Amino acid sequence: MQFDIWTKALPELPIDCLAVGVHEEGELTAEARALDQRCGEKLSRLLKRGDFSAKPGETWLVTDLDDVAAERVLLVGLGPKADLVRKAWRKSLSAAIAAAARTRCASLALALPRPAAKLLTDERLGRAVAEITGNTLYRVNDLKSAKKPRPHALAKVTVVVPAKSAAAVQAGLAQGEALAAGSALMRNLANLPGNVCTPTYLGKTAEGLAKTHKSLKVKVLGLAEIKKEKMGCFLAVTQGSEEPPRFIVIEHRHPKAKNQPVVLVGKGITFDTGGISLKDPPTMDEMKFDMSGAACVLGTMLAVGELNLPLNVIGIVAACENMPDGRSIKPGDIVTSAQGLTVEILNTDAEGRLILCDALHYAKRFKPDVVIDMATLTGAIVIALGTHHTGVFSNTDALAKELVDCGLSVDDRAWHMPLTEEYGEQLKSNFADMANVAGRDGGSITAAAFLGKFTKDLTWAHMDIAGTAYQGGAGKGSTGRPSALLLEYLLRRASAR
Ligand code: BES
Ligand code: MN
Ligand code: ZN
Repeated sequence: MQFDIWTKALPELPIDCLAVGVHEEGELTAEARALDQRCGEKLSRLLKRGDFSAKPGETWLVTDLDDVAAERVLLVGLGPKADLVRKAWRKSLSAAIAAAARTRCASLALALPRPAAKLLTDERLGRAVAEITGNTLYRVNDLKSAKKPRPHALAKVTVVVPAKSAAAVQAGLAQGEALAAGSALMRNLANLPGNVCTPTYLGKTAEGLAKTHKSLKVKVLGLAEIKKEKMGCFLAVTQGSEEPPRFIVIEHRHPKAKNQPVVLVGKGITFDTGGISLKDPPTMDEMKFDMSGAACVLGTMLAVGELNLPLNVIGIVAACENMPDGRSIKPGDIVTSAQGLTVEILNTDAEGRLILCDALHYAKRFKPDVVIDMATLTGAIVIALGTHHTGVFSNTDALAKELVDCGLSVDDRAWHMPLTEEYGEQLKSNFADMANVAGRDGGSITAAAFLGKFTKDLTWAHMDIAGTAYQGGAGKGSTGRPSALLLEYLLRRASAR
């Protein structure tokens, strides 16, 4: 998709389709009025008939307005005037893009009224436009044999803004394009079934990123190298699987970066059966999404490479399956982590923390400024927060607050969860340094506390994305979250450098 900016008079804009807003009260926005006055108030007359309700997300296509250069004008419902906040704006924008994509328009201009600058800066506006365009036009990568429907014809989106905003919006559009590309990669990987998106496949995808993005260097460790690293917990999870594990390291270095790296760590369980502590059949298929954290790391590294951010960023992915087998770990088995702590595996379904603890330990060699892991770690976080907020845990309150604030400013929300010593004490074992589970109470917090035992000397945050990274039910599929939150965090660091 190509993006550009128009700062001149609206009726003069040569375009296949020009989207303007209408308030639910039936009132034209300033942009729509500019066209209306040119064409002899055809739009006003149309609205007076009352056919178009202008609810957010509703659209109405009008063609051949006299003295208007655009071939088509798309009226876009904004909802009540007082409600023009980010949520309604995002919805209207997405509806305009979807409506244009249903036509044969190759170019679309967006002249919708924007939320107040204090709610959405020019740069974030540009970013959101490109992000929403990518998300709206995303088609699920299904493996259906029927011929794919005809693709949309949209090739260019023009954003109408005042001249003083042009430079910042342009910069935001570039960020949004990178974000859309990263989030599409995440969604494609997560949507693929476990028999296609294996640890090997993730490793190959990472190697592909290094080919297309100059700044990225990739290293993929196989079983022998993982053994050499003494990642006893990671090895314990993979030992019941025929599918070989992969440990993936992607480095982005920038000559202008002054700080130590940010390390992003992703849980890459390409299928989670639960192992010997087998899960129940209903919705077990959704455990193909258990590599969403890994997919988000790959997508974010793609965006970082695409923008060549002036930062050092390292992505780490531990990828394997969790399967029941004659060689699988059994409840009660004790293994030794790379850090040296021993773990009694009371429940083989609490496998995410086992692979992550070794990955987090590996991160220490980079002497990172900050380590952030992403994982579909617990069902308990879905009970706690539902599907709206990602759970953020950290040993550094300021980092958790920053991540929550990042999520808020880009509509990819997160919530700060507690992580005090008591939760860690619940992981006591009679036979090892700790157990891998601690009962149902506060399940997402005890899981985070387990990871906390391996990150004591790091500035670290953990994001439990079990509720936010994918949807079940009729709209089953990856959401791309929390790619937007993470990129916001990295962009803030890049500009604070
Ligand atoms: N991958 C699951 C967590 C999960 C559950 C993600 C539901 C998305 C939806 C994780 O490996 C797991 O099985 N966790 C257990 C932990 C328990 C055994 C302490 C859980 O949440 O039930
Ligand atoms: Mn599990
Ligand atoms: Zn899992």
